[in-house]
Amino acid sequence: MEFFIDTADTEAIRALCSFLPVDGVTTNPTIITKSGKAPEQVFAELCEVLTEDQKIIAQVIATDYDGILAEAEKIAAIRGGKNIVVKIPVTRAGLRAIPAVKAKGISVLATGIYSPDQAFWAAKAGADYLAPYVNRMCNYGDGVGQVVELVHTLAQYGMEAKVCAASFKNVDQVHRLLAAGVPAVTVAPDVIAAMIDHPGTALAVEEFTSNWEKAYGRTTL
Ligand code: E4P
Repeated sequence: MEFFIDTADTEAIRALCSFLPVDGVTTNPTIITKSGKAPEQVFAELCEVLTEDQKIIAQVIATDYDGILAEAEKIAAIRGGKNIVVKIPVTRAGLRAIPAVKAKGISVLATGIYSPDQAFWAAKAGADYLAPYVNRMCNYGDGVGQVVELVHTLAQYGMEAKVCAASFKNVDQVHRLLAAGVPAVTVAPDVIAAMIDHPGTALAVEEFTSNWEKAYGRTTL
């Protein structure tokens, strides 16, 4: 499975990549604006902070067919086409653009997905990844359940598109989709931290050290 970090905060990416085997980074226009930096600078920093084996997944801004095609090529050129994936929202223009972008040899992640039915059409159009917005879907119903259903639908038809579940707001949402075997997730740094930093573990380690020190007068083996 693939685990991406959903941020354009390069310091957070650097810190997480120093101890976690993450598969790359996803951004969207809003995430990039939140960095407070120019998009060109963000992309340059992402290329510097990530290894060539880690994917950079970046979104088009254009909403018309020709604009999406032109921007997809621009994004692909950020890194010479290797391990770069272009995010295209599943609008009518986006669904039309997906096969055309794929025909240029560019990988595509269909984004802005609020329903399994939109995801189905993006898969049929040839998208490599499908990004259902889990938490936003939860505003309308059982977002997690619908994404699990989507994974099963794709498997049933032998469709190759991978679900890359996105828009998580808590660990439970991530946990339930990992337990269901979702092939990829993209998770913001704060939720990743909550997956890892359990207060119980910190207390257990403190207790081990303190008992050892009391018995042996040192804090090393
Ligand atoms: C993926 O990169 C999506 O754009 C992102 O997860 C959306 O997250 P949000 O619902 O917090 O905006």
